[in-house]
Amino acid sequence: MKDHFTLTRRSFIRTTAAGSLALGWLSGGRTPGAFAAEGSKPALLGGTPVHKGGWARWPEWREDWEPELLKVFRSCRWFRGSDNRVEEFERGYAQLLGAKACLATASGTTALMVSLHVLDVDAGDEVIVSPYTFIASYNAILSRMALPVFADSDPATLTIDPGSLESRITERTRALMPVHIFGMPCDMDPISAVARKHKLAVVEDACQAWLAEYQGRKCGTIGDLGCFSFQESKHIPSGEGGAITGMSEELIDKCNSYHNCGRAAGTNKGNGCFTRGNNYRMTQAQAVMLMQQFDKLVKQTAIRRANADYLTANLGQIPGITPVRLPDNSRAVWHLYPFRYDAAHFNGLSRDKFARAMSAEGIPCGGVYHEQYYDGLLDEAIASRGFKRLWGADRLKAYRDSFQELKGNKQVCETTVAMTQNMLLADRGDMDHILEGIRKVQAHSAVLAKAA
Ligand SMILES: Cc1ncc(COP(=O)(O)O)c(C=O)c1O
Repeated sequence: MKDHFTLTRRSFIRTTAAGSLALGWLSGGRTPGAFAAEGSKPALLGGTPVHKGGWARWPEWREDWEPELLKVFRSCRWFRGSDNRVEEFERGYAQLLGAKACLATASGTTALMVSLHVLDVDAGDEVIVSPYTFIASYNAILSRMALPVFADSDPATLTIDPGSLESRITERTRALMPVHIFGMPCDMDPISAVARKHKLAVVEDACQAWLAEYQGRKCGTIGDLGCFSFQESKHIPSGEGGAITGMSEELIDKCNSYHNCGRAAGTNKGNGCFTRGNNYRMTQAQAVMLMQQFDKLVKQTAIRRANADYLTANLGQIPGITPVRLPDNSRAVWHLYPFRYDAAHFNGLSRDKFARAMSAEGIPCGGVYHEQYYDGLLDEAIASRGFKRLWGADRLKAYRDSFQELKGNKQVCETTVAMTQNMLLADRGDMDHILEGIRKVQAHSAVLAKAA
């Protein structure tokens, strides 16, 4: 990996998986004894890597999934309306989450777009969103011709800081969009309290949070609607795909109508295409792929959690490494496993160089999201004819200036290091390699900091 900071999360996952194959790493061959490699030469400078076993490839394919899929292909009933497999998936996914209802969609992005439409986010409205997220969270709001207004991130949790919400509310604010980033639940109680007080809708971006839990409830069932992604890198993938979940059948029926060209659905009755709509439907084959992965998702979530708990318990003992804090009574699912890195405890070794040294040790990791609000898409949006028609110049200028207030998020972007979820599917000895790798890089950080 050349530069972790320029990698997107998806290419990062592919690189981690494919990179290990390209190097022909074999399983086994571990350095015996915890932290045995601390004294040896860093792999980046020609020493032996701490971890030589590679990591599980992602996504996975299982041959026993093939007969059910073949049935779909041979039936020639591929479109949602031709058979009942998508509905079957929706019932199963709702049950898995304890949601009242679920609608399958073409992607996580379209799930967010449909939800915002149904919750009446309209042109000229504002939606308060986590800044530390995949860019689709911003884009879904922009596609409603609404303004994504950024709350700050809490450096301790990496998620939205509930204390930063109220100061962002204007008379145009219609909704809050907390993002359970990396599968770590946002602190939903104070977020819901702000929403109730100001009569705002809540769309949970749970696109990375399948089975994550907060106060005994699954993410995606706490706000008005929750949105999931089943894109290829996800814990339950079907190439592309998404879902909306919620506790109101009426709302999900409205989502169904909008995602299906405005046709009637359940309680949302009318003639023909009686309401606005689009085509964001899932196909039968995607639904079958997903249903066959329900058990695997549950089992692998338990493995990722056990390994993440082990890392969290041990990483906190390494000076300069701070594991992420979760809200009380919540359980993450770790789409990425993040921690915060303080170069001061590593002889000033930059995060980039730390990541390169770790990758050389066979433990790929790196920074994830940067301050994307400076990338140009928001400048382009607010310079567009449509946005200029909908907001005055003063508001758009204040909006642009407000990015500088995101001090917590800047810190999160600059200090977070993460490993991909497939690494958490390995065994305890491999988790020890991760800890050993960090200690080794720390022990050699002075020389590594001087190296190019
Ligand atoms: C936090 C978040 N929101 C939204 C999305 C969009 O999902 P999709 O890629 O399925 O459109 C993703 C996907 O990576 C995501 O991680």
